[in-house]
Amino acid sequence: MRVSLLLGNWAESLHLSEIETARWRASGYLHDALREDDPEALRPKIPSRFGNWPPEMLHGPAVTEKLRSEGILDDELLSAIAYHSVGHKSLNRLGRALYCADFLEPGRMFRVEWCESMRARMPEELNNVTTEIVAARISYTIKHGLELYSESVGFWNALVNGR
Ligand SMILES: [Fe+2]
Repeated sequence: MRVSLLLGNWAESLHLSEIETARWRASGYLHDALREDDPEALRPKIPSRFGNWPPEMLHGPAVTEKLRSEGILDDELLSAIAYHSVGHKSLNRLGRALYCADFLEPGRMFRVEWCESMRARMPEELNNVTTEIVAARISYTIKHGLELYSESVGFWNALVNGR
């Protein structure tokens, strides 16, 4: 709900059409729809390219597959949902907005003041804010000796090459 509300506010600030605003809100409502499901039950239902993803990231692609099976063919929306936890080079405005909203929604108790300052720059500075979030997450991953996802690195490269 909070992610959807944030996306709806951003879409209105950008004067997007009613349909486009509804689409932004829908991505917020839907992206975590299967987060409470058992990830190992979701794994067989999603394409093999997600096979090496850790359990906590499988709900995105699982929602995408469910929506696709129900006749949703909106590729931008489907990619935004599939990659909301990790990012992807293909994400454009909607995908970037969902990635940011999921990270910046006010219910998160992580780097609260920093998130507040990032929210204040949205949606006007969508690309810069997205780039800063990806930088923070990649830095955290490296600092803690964790594995980087190729999707996140691809997202970073797409963001800096598009400047
Ligand atoms: Fe999620």
